Amino acid sequence: MIRLFRVSNFRCLESAELTLSSDFNLIYGANASGKTSLLEALAYLGRGKSFRGASTTNLVQHGREEFVLFGQVDGLARTRSLGVRNSRAGLEVRVDGDSEGGAAALAEALPLQVIDPEVHNLVAGGPEQRRRFLDWVAFHVEQDHLLAWRRFRRALKQRNAALRAKSGPATIHSWNAEFVTLSGELDESRRRSLDVALESLAGFGLDLLGTELGFEYQQGWSKGRELADVLEEGLERDLQMGATQHGPHRADLKISYDEKQARKLVSRGQQKLLASAMILAATETAQTALERPLLLLLDDPAAELDAESLERLMSGVARLGCQVVATSLEPGLPGTPVGAALFHVEHGVLTVIQAPEDSP
Ligand SMILES: Nc1ncnc2c1ncn2[C@@H]1O[C@H](COP(=O)(O)OP(=O)(O)O)[C@@H](O)[C@H]1O
Ligand SMILES: [Mg+2]
Repeated sequence: MIRLFRVSNFRCLESAELTLSSDFNLIYGANASGKTSLLEALAYLGRGKSFRGASTTNLVQHGREEFVLFGQVDGLARTRSLGVRNSRAGLEVRVDGDSEGGAAALAEALPLQVIDPEVHNLVAGGPEQRRRFLDWVAFHVEQDHLLAWRRFRRALKQRNAALRAKSGPATIHSWNAEFVTLSGELDESRRRSLDVALESLAGFGLDLLGTELGFEYQQGWSKGRELADVLEEGLERDLQMGATQHGPHRADLKISYDEKQARKLVSRGQQKLLASAMILAATETAQTALERPLLLLLDDPAAELDAESLERLMSGVARLGCQVVATSLEPGLPGTPVGAALFHVEHGVLTVIQAPEDSP
């Protein structure tokens, strides 16, 4: 969780310093005042990239050369300093002064999740977001997931390069064995992580939607078949496409629910609730694995939700016991605990309305 945050020249935020509550923080302000910008800056400090998929160049305040973010983060045993600077020279990341670890070091020091008005895409959008969701859980639950993921990516790139170069079957073949081994490692790691998360997924599904949800990992090639055989059979098509058509890079997370729920899920609000249940479950799973509270960013949670749905979401959030930074148009949000820190933002300028009670 993050205790002190400084931001300068990030989108519309010129310069701000915030002492945050370890519990609940609410940022309120009119449209286009800078609420999302603040959450995006916080997320950037924990990820080294935008959660909206915005390019880093567009995040620098117009007319400025660079943005700088700084945070003091409470870890398991000690406080750590996180710094990010983006200038023409590129992105600079520091954790306790060390620039070696890059974005992965930020993610380890400040693990966070985001629920924003686009969250429904986790359910309604393509498989890539669900893979990223599952990989995020695995990254925190499985010691070696990042390594497995990186090694697999490298093997995939090499195999695809060989396909594009129209290399002979012998060369492609020589890549297959390693590709299959690394696919297996990534696959196993994701499956184990999903197993760990299932109880939380079911729990928050019940809390937020009042229904039983099922989650099944789809590996990215035909069920019950050996990837080696599938690659063998698909070689011609792979050569045609210049890319590997089967493997964990094509995996998905299949969500199942009853018919009644399926009918409801045409609504954006219900999609948002389902996606939010998944995010809360992922957060809980990572919290348990890491044995410390995570940071949850809620950008305009009220959007698309009726009063009852918003109540359900916010009581789910409260049950998590994580650090929350939420935004809203009004200075209140259902489920805001007494003693929550309150900040107002206007034209990119932040004012403390109520300081955190637990500030050091
Ligand atoms: N790079 C930038 N430099 C300056 N202002 C920006 C930049 N990017 C976005 N903005 C402005 O920031 C303002 C606040 O946006 P946002 O944080 O999304 O507001 P809110 O979430 O409060 O509605 C918008 O008016 C937008 O035009
Ligand atoms: Mg906004």
